[in-house]
Amino acid sequence: MTTFSAPAKIILFGEHAVVYGHPAIAVPFSALRASAEVHKNNPPGQGLLIVAGDLQKTIRVEDAGNVLAEMSRLILKQLGASPPDVPISLRSTIPVASGLGSGAAIASVLGRVLSAVVNHPLSDDALNQIVYEIEKLHHGTPSGIDNTVVVYEQPIYFVRDQAIQRLKIGQSFQLVAADTGKSAPTRISVGDVRKLYEANPAKIQPVLNSIGQIVEQARQIIEYGNPDALGPLMLQNHLLLSELTVSSPELDALVDAAMNAGALGAKLSGGGRGGNMIALVAADTAEYVGQALLAAGAARIYHTTVTA
Ligand code: MEV
Repeated sequence: MTTFSAPAKIILFGEHAVVYGHPAIAVPFSALRASAEVHKNNPPGQGLLIVAGDLQKTIRVEDAGNVLAEMSRLILKQLGASPPDVPISLRSTIPVASGLGSGAAIASVLGRVLSAVVNHPLSDDALNQIVYEIEKLHHGTPSGIDNTVVVYEQPIYFVRDQAIQRLKIGQSFQLVAADTGKSAPTRISVGDVRKLYEANPAKIQPVLNSIGQIVEQARQIIEYGNPDALGPLMLQNHLLLSELTVSSPELDALVDAAMNAGALGAKLSGGGRGGNMIALVAADTAEYVGQALLAAGAARIYHTTVTA
């Protein structure tokens, strides 16, 4: 039986504002992945088990209060199928609650493997809808950007409730992502931005509008193929996210360290408050920026290229 896999994601511009109908840009981060397959050599008669290799845990589909069991139940309900009598092996190299779309990637591979096992083929569109439903359970009011970039594994320009627009990358560019090592559930930062917005819409709406304008500029720059010009936009986007209170001292310190080491731009990526930031780097400064991020306290760094 096949192994199904799905990538992590990086939001380049527009997180949080995207929840309010503004556009955002995200790319798949294919080096980090979740994968699922039917576990080999297991005796039948045990019902549907999720063997979570990284957690060294085996979960039964009936388990109450377990996220993976809950995801599986929802997927089976959407497929109109009862739990198959198989163990599913699940693995992921994507850090949890770190802004990289781990939840969407896990839901996506569970959806793909279960649909294969119960022999109910799912189109990407149908899977995307199911993963979005799962995101809603865990994130409250998600925009749908995470599930979309993870399921289609394509760079996207995304507007909530609109048809998916694939983003053309005019010229490849390099990023260094750095993890603060602090996990931060998206549900909390999204909920806090909602409270801020409701308490003072006149103050927050212009911040969201400005983020939307940055995304439009970034889209043109990316498509036109002049990626160095993204640097200043990343910094502006980071400052606006700070105004939404979703940065943190750790994220700010990593952004500063990247800039001091010669990055062209840097910002937090994803839900914020912890998790990851990204720095745009030229080929000859990538290593140095990575080292500077580690020296400034990053728990881990990843080099990646967004390819044309
Ligand atoms: C999380 O990856 C991105 C947020 O904009 C939330 C969402 O869009 O659902 C913070």
